[in-house]
Amino acid sequence: VSGFSRTPITGRWDNSRRPFLFVTLTDLLVARIRARGPLTVAEFMDAALYDPERGYYASAAQRSGRAGDFFTSVDVGPLFGELLAVQLDEMWRLTRAAGGTTFDLVEAGAGNGRLTRDILDAAAVHHREMYEHMRVTLVERSAAAREAHAATLGDAHRDRPIASLAELPAPIDGVILANELLDALPVHVVIGTDAGLREVYVAERAGALVETTGDLSDPAIAAYLDRLGVAPAVGARADVGLQAIRWIEEAARSLARGFLLLIDYGHEAAELFSPSHASGTLTGYRAHRLRPDWLSEPGGRDLTAHVNLTAIRLAAEDAGLTTIGMVDQTYFLMSLGITDRVAAGPDRAAVARRLAAKTLVMPGGLGSTMKTMAFARGLPGVRLAGLSSGRLT
Ligand SMILES: C[S@@+](CC[C@H](N)C(=O)[O-])C[C@H]1O[C@@H](n2cnc3c(N)ncnc32)[C@H](O)[C@@H]1O
Repeated sequence: VSGFSRTPITGRWDNSRRPFLFVTLTDLLVARIRARGPLTVAEFMDAALYDPERGYYASAAQRSGRAGDFFTSVDVGPLFGELLAVQLDEMWRLTRAAGGTTFDLVEAGAGNGRLTRDILDAAAVHHREMYEHMRVTLVERSAAAREAHAATLGDAHRDRPIASLAELPAPIDGVILANELLDALPVHVVIGTDAGLREVYVAERAGALVETTGDLSDPAIAAYLDRLGVAPAVGARADVGLQAIRWIEEAARSLARGFLLLIDYGHEAAELFSPSHASGTLTGYRAHRLRPDWLSEPGGRDLTAHVNLTAIRLAAEDAGLTTIGMVDQTYFLMSLGITDRVAAGPDRAAVARRLAAKTLVMPGGLGSTMKTMAFARGLPGVRLAGLSSGRLT
């Protein structure tokens, strides 16, 4: 850390006067705290992940994969997109039966666009009618990732209307899909004390970022806990994902008719507020290793928190959507026929697909940590093949 972090700052912070390369995000946050007071954990996380210049997601187009910090199902290869195309095809048929003429596929938190590409590649071959009615939008907050969309998608789908945006479009008639978006949204952190609920803040001491506690920063935090009927026990910490709730509300508003299909890792509220999660779930990842010291090197590592599945379901229902179901990824992909898509035999391609299938459904790995959640608007009584098992472990 350069000497800047030890420079007392008064008044407004003017970044333009400082040599860009020598100023770390820690320096900027220390200066901001000196000028305006401690940050909520959500504000800290927002800067660490999404600061337009130094944020973790802002400074690279792709963060997952072998060379990155974590794996998602998209990194396993095209099989995941192929299976999603099967589920999307059923959704297209259901919206068409209800009067839909075009089929919007909006992928939110699209990263550099690989999942949409895999879906389109599969749809072009196996789901031609859906493909020809598709209108595609990739929604991604990181400008670096958005810039990669054209190269990822290449020329193969130039006949389809494809847009790349920073925010959700509206109105959407079709599907909003998000794989591991919610776990990347900033959370507030609260602690149960004898004197009631306190919030964790990020303060600074001698140029270093440190934790402190204070009153709740937002009445929505207490409302969130009341709605769930939970509270952290004395001495326990818990994450409060207000941004996830706000994102669900916005997605529900944007969805005129169709489906919201979310795939992410998390637990029901009762589990997250039980002794097994008494330290909360906010953590860092770097080079595939857990880094629980989430305050260190902001911008240089992934920060993530488990999704509160109960809060997501209630937010979706409060916003007028109908819950179709929540299942483990194992059941979702098995119900969509993943085992029919792999072949026996020693050739390399067959072996690679079998390995990919195993990675996607393996209990204890992506198969049981990832949950698929589906919600609908304007399609009373619909059921979906991928959610038909109704299994959540
Ligand atoms: C964990 S990554 C997942 C990327 C990709 N979906 C995958 O599965 O590999 C989360 C992505 O969501 C993006 N993101 C975060 N907040 C967002 C928002 N409000 N709207 C759109 N994208 C967002 C991040 O920039 C990041 O690219």
